[in-house]
Amino acid sequence: MAKLIDASEAADDISIQEAATALMAGELVVFPTETVYGLGAIVSNEDALRHIYRAKGRPSDNPLIIHVSDEEMFFQYAKDSEAASILINHFCPGPLTLVVPARDSLSRVITAGLDTVAIRIPCHPLAQDLIRATGEAIAAPSANRSGRPSATRASDAFEDLENDIAYCIDGGPSEVGLESTIVDLSVEPFQILRPGYYTAETLNLVFKRLGKYPKFQVVEAPIQEMAKQQGPKAPGMKYRHYAPETEVLIIEGSSLEKRISDFSKKCADLDPSDSIAAFVSSELASQLEARGLLDSVELIQFSSPVDASHRLFAVLRDFDQPNTRRILVESLDGDTIEIAYMNRLRKAASSKQEALK
Ligand code: TXA
Ligand code: MG
Repeated sequence: MAKLIDASEAADDISIQEAATALMAGELVVFPTETVYGLGAIVSNEDALRHIYRAKGRPSDNPLIIHVSDEEMFFQYAKDSEAASILINHFCPGPLTLVVPARDSLSRVITAGLDTVAIRIPCHPLAQDLIRATGEAIAAPSANRSGRPSATRASDAFEDLENDIAYCIDGGPSEVGLESTIVDLSVEPFQILRPGYYTAETLNLVFKRLGKYPKFQVVEAPIQEMAKQQGPKAPGMKYRHYAPETEVLIIEGSSLEKRISDFSKKCADLDPSDSIAAFVSSELASQLEARGLLDSVELIQFSSPVDASHRLFAVLRDFDQPNTRRILVESLDGDTIEIAYMNRLRKAASSKQEALK
């Protein structure tokens, strides 16, 4: 039976020690990070690693990422890399994952047979405490069943994984709310495999400041190329991700007026008895309200792109009720966190059929 360690207990060393002991004994533990919750197993226990794939229902060719406490621990698992060192020194601990050549000693259950490994140094204090308490890296994909939105609250992870875990540590709602930026440093130029809090532009600024650019250069992975790849290099391209059961439609338009008409168009084919849920900016909400378009809509408003990103996955889960006919979510324009938000939203909105291709 899984034990939920609540937020007040989680700050206590004894609870972290208990969870660390369970990890070292080969059990699975859900823990908070600043991006989303992780489903953790100790990297040295292959049975525990395989249990992660089973618990998530994750295909065995989709590799796991590992979490370490600092740069020194990073290079116990990764081969030396100047670019990785530079990025770690500027952005870690934080919401950034680096794909680098793996040391031979690392289990190929983690890498799904690849020669590279994805490593991250989380900045959430409870994640840091847990890694330090075990003294080794913790493999942890997002703590959701495969295909469901990632868990940004302990209760979401608990709901998906209760029967497979020893502990679920509650650290409150995840601060960023979207998974880390993944940069592949094993190719040239370096590629963003999954957009997140840090953009290519931000990462390149550091290389420029150090005079390393364009030798070290990060580019967006060309979507077409990602789609064509056979292997699991491009997270989310091969497997269905982030999608609730209820249909999700995106409200788009270059002006407020266009968004209003897109909203009403996307409700037009429904019966008055069908229940609709919407996640839109407060700006759009007040206009829709004024035109009487929200009368039978379950509404959640966001105040900024950062707020929208922070809450997207939780809102998708909360809206995903059997009686909800359609979920409408407003798009965001912009070239920072908006890129990551739109990446996740488009996946949630793509039909099951399309995403499984
Ligand atoms: O923010 C995050 O990254 C969260 C928290 C828990 O740290 N973790 C997370 O893990 O999002 P996951 O497994 O849901 O997503 C990691 C992605 C996977 O889609 C996988 O395909 C990709 O990273 N990945 C892992 N190893 C890789 C590798 N060697 N090369 C390319 N992609 C890799
Ligand atoms: Mg995931």
